[in-house]
Amino acid sequence: MNFASDNIVGASAPVLQAIVQANAGAMAAYGNDAVSQRVRERFNEIFEREISVFFATTGTAANALALSSAVPPYGLCICHREAHVIDDECGAPEFFMHGAKLAGLPGVGAKLRAEDVAAYLTSLPKAPKQMPPKALSISQVSEGGLVYGLNELAALGQVCREHGLSFHMDGARFANALVALGCTPAEMTWKQGIDILSFGATKNGGLMAEAIVVFKPELAEALDYRSKRAGQIISKGRLVAAQFEGYFAEDHWLANARHANRMAKLLSEGLMQVPGVRFAWPTEANEVFPIIPQALDQALKAAGILYHPWTELSLPEAERVGETEVLIRLVASWATREEDVRKLLEIASSGVSRQAAE
Ligand SMILES: Cc1ncc(COP(=O)(O)O)c(C=O)c1O
Repeated sequence: MNFASDNIVGASAPVLQAIVQANAGAMAAYGNDAVSQRVRERFNEIFEREISVFFATTGTAANALALSSAVPPYGLCICHREAHVIDDECGAPEFFMHGAKLAGLPGVGAKLRAEDVAAYLTSLPKAPKQMPPKALSISQVSEGGLVYGLNELAALGQVCREHGLSFHMDGARFANALVALGCTPAEMTWKQGIDILSFGATKNGGLMAEAIVVFKPELAEALDYRSKRAGQIISKGRLVAAQFEGYFAEDHWLANARHANRMAKLLSEGLMQVPGVRFAWPTEANEVFPIIPQALDQALKAAGILYHPWTELSLPEAERVGETEVLIRLVASWATREEDVRKLLEIASSGVSRQAAE
């Protein structure tokens, strides 16, 4: 049983079928085809306005290109210190920003608070030797599995406006956040001040389905060229775009995300009943962050369950992981089976009762 991430499963059937359907016949290359055009229009409908959409094959490419559009080489981009853009992309955003830097701030559950961002911005000296802040990047869902509420997004958007920053959202788990909030894509993005979005679909049923969605038109001006320089103008672009036809059809994407979130909730409610288990922070989307006794960690591993240990860096201030405990991350996906969740919970409870009996 594998709870290591939501990209450990393949692509969903509607996505694969849409690729097969788009495969027939000859069409213009490099995204100048009817399928890509239809998908761009679908994005307009979903976001309730005219936007620019650039397809990409990885989230790292989408993030790096989005940030390179928002930040000049001498600029600073603020993010959480555990953000994927600063921690997990081998410097790609900084590489594509041609010298600009990422500044990582702390925050519980890998979430940034508007007041902390504002205080940091105010503290920065304004001199030519100081890199001027030009963008804020947040991850929705955060790397701690938390979801920014609309008020929190609006407050961050306000800080960005006041300080002249572009506002980027890394939406690798966009759909999981959306169904958790029960709002519209427009409400979760441009209506709260998001200027540019990395729209991820790979984790939620895609094969390699990422898109840069631009709400602030000037950020789209050079993205075609930037994408080409990054090798992201895809020759058979229709096969990448087609994934989104299958993804959006009949709200397949929302159903997938609801399923993943429901499985995570089931996991978290079940683990809550297991003696000795507590939570780093609440389960809000499709990721669960329990602090478990080492013995339980061993029992789960012995049963062949896969998951990652997690960093304690973003725990609330008074919270610590004890010497005989481990903080772990369990991730549910669109394909997680309820029977596997129940099996894990059974193993967890029997692991603890066996321990008590010994
Ligand atoms: C928050 C976040 N952003 C972006 C990505 C996309 O990264 P990749 O380049 O692996 O598609 C991931 C994937 O793990 C992620 O968790």
